[in-house]
Amino acid sequence: MTLLAVAVGGRGVVDPEEPVLRADDEALLRGRAAFETIRVYAGKPFKLAEHLDRLAGSAAMIGLPEVNRLELEALAEQALDAAAAPDAVLRLYWTPTPASIALVSALADHYDDLRARGQKLISLRGVRAEEPWLLPGVKSTSYAANMAAEAEAKRQGADDALFIDREGTVLEGPTTNVWWRRDRTLYTPSLDLGILAGVTRATVLALAGDSAYAVEEGHYGLTALLAADEAFTSSSVREVMPVTEVDGVPLTRGPAADELQAALRSAAGATVPG
Ligand SMILES: Cc1ncc(COP(=O)(O)O)c(C=O)c1O
Repeated sequence: MTLLAVAVGGRGVVDPEEPVLRADDEALLRGRAAFETIRVYAGKPFKLAEHLDRLAGSAAMIGLPEVNRLELEALAEQALDAAAAPDAVLRLYWTPTPASIALVSALADHYDDLRARGQKLISLRGVRAEEPWLLPGVKSTSYAANMAAEAEAKRQGADDALFIDREGTVLEGPTTNVWWRRDRTLYTPSLDLGILAGVTRATVLALAGDSAYAVEEGHYGLTALLAADEAFTSSSVREVMPVTEVDGVPLTRGPAADELQAALRSAAGATVPG
């Protein structure tokens, strides 16, 4: 990650080289903090209010103090001003001390190449977070397992992992939601599976209707995905990203991923079309 700017509650913009957390902050000691990753288009964070809503929900589930939205909004603005980068990634952190941090980093440059070539996924068994103490839908800093899954997928020669549960029900990726299409219907796992309610997932749900696709949310086995006409993932930073292979089974590229990527960029007011 190339850090461009950091702003911290009570201090404002700080040198990105400076430490910003207390040593006893449980964000560090236990991975007990809430965070959000937000795409910045033309200098503006896309769907900031929705990300702050989710951050507030995550914080409540982990038992953190109530999120100070106004402070985080102000820190986001200060960090974005300091970074002065039109296309970037904004991360917001809310920790138990409480500490609030806004961090702006450069957008990785390989995502558009990956979008052009399409991603290979490997299915890995993940946790279906059905109980509240497994923190369904919470975006916390305990992401080591998600990163390990991505690393395992790469070790196996793929680009990313796809979590399935013990019964083979499709869940999500380590940092993405997953979709596939049959004819004019898009399918995506439903939120009651304990997956993250992706902000991009909600945006794609809305945009799919405008593009005359029906959408079904539910519990689907991996075989449904492997038999799809096309598949793609969604996330704030990777946006809509076609999937061209799952577990070595090739999937054809299709029009929906490209249409929805273009619609997402246009909804975001991006200067570069999808
Ligand atoms: C586990 C998981 N699922 C899905 C997503 C996609 O969410 P969003 O569209 O809000 O970026 C993320 C984002 O990081 C994630 O971590």
